[in-house]
Amino acid sequence: MSEELLKLEHLSIDYKVKGGYLSAVNDVNLKVNRGEILAIVGESGCGKSTVAHSIMNLLPGGNESVEGKIIFKGEDLRTFSWAEMEKIRGRHIGMIFQNPLDSLNPVYTTGKQVEEAILLDKVDKVVAWQKVCDLFNDVKMPDAETRARSFPHELSGGMRQRVMIAMMLSRDPELLIADEPTTALDVTIEAQILEIIKDLKHTHNTAIMMITHNFGLVAEVADRVAVMYAGEVIEYADVFEIFEHPSHPYTQLLMKALPRGTKKDGRLQIIEGSVPRILDKKPGCRFANRCPLAQERCFNETPGETMVGDEHVCRCFLAAEGKGAV
Ligand SMILES: Nc1ncnc2c1ncn2[C@@H]1O[C@H](COP(=O)(O)OP(=O)(O)OP(=O)(O)O)[C@@H](O)[C@H]1O
Ligand code: SF4
Ligand SMILES: [Mg+2]
Repeated sequence: MSEELLKLEHLSIDYKVKGGYLSAVNDVNLKVNRGEILAIVGESGCGKSTVAHSIMNLLPGGNESVEGKIIFKGEDLRTFSWAEMEKIRGRHIGMIFQNPLDSLNPVYTTGKQVEEAILLDKVDKVVAWQKVCDLFNDVKMPDAETRARSFPHELSGGMRQRVMIAMMLSRDPELLIADEPTTALDVTIEAQILEIIKDLKHTHNTAIMMITHNFGLVAEVADRVAVMYAGEVIEYADVFEIFEHPSHPYTQLLMKALPRGTKKDGRLQIIEGSVPRILDKKPGCRFANRCPLAQERCFNETPGETMVGDEHVCRCFLAAEGKGAV
């Protein structure tokens, strides 16, 4: 059996905003095993980045309240001090952000920034620079040595994302969180970056949490899938199971909206209406206002998580009764 690396238990995150508490993440339960790719998929604003940032203890600070457990290798990261988390970040858990330009320092060359990460391990400078060049080659950076001497603004979006991956690789983390790493890239570069990330699973046995709003991409990379809606995981299963037997009406609609044969076009924007902002939690299913199968109780009672198959979790009254077909 594969080793469980990360486990989120009843994770809830509210942001204090004008008008009340925004429930950005509600009762999320997920796990990532060593050497597997878990995809978290959902529309804009459904709480994907909030989950990712909470694992790294990188929430903005000030207006959020967090409940639940974030267990990494058996220890709850929520009990860790800032200094203890600093040792976890990079070395044990790496993160690739959506916009690499925000994460790169404009006044240092890209190679220097990767070198800095390598020097944290107290290696010789000549060895460190050689490793920078090797890593740039590993991420298939065109003209690697020249690019290592370039500043971030001199590189294309795809090249910057390669720098971020090289930086992350230099620390060889056990868990990689990739928050929409390819959204800003064109389809060809997206495919190349995904290949590099997928390779990590095989070459380094890295566990990967891949966040995306592209369902087509999920089919290509994931072992398991969590579908998020309005802050909740509404369905969670093995990738084959979720494509073969989607149980939640939302997932079923997403599947119907997927163009056949052109996986790359599987963006999540086809269902009528939009994701509600949940202010001051009230009872009811968060999908009820868009759900074609909604019944009276869906507006008054909150569906919990039910097992609808082997390691297949769904949050819907009808699916729990085996009836939920859109
Ligand atoms: N610092 C904050 N203060 C208040 N609300 C916030 C804050 N950060 C995020 N939110 C709100 O929390 C909800 C979840 O945001 P989050 O960024 O996690 O979504 P997401 O799924 O990553 O979206 P996207 O696909 O657009 O990146 C949204 O309604 C967002 O407006
Ligand atoms: S609980 Fe009700 S509203 Fe929610 S997804 Fe199921 S049928 Fe639709
Ligand atoms: Mg996000």
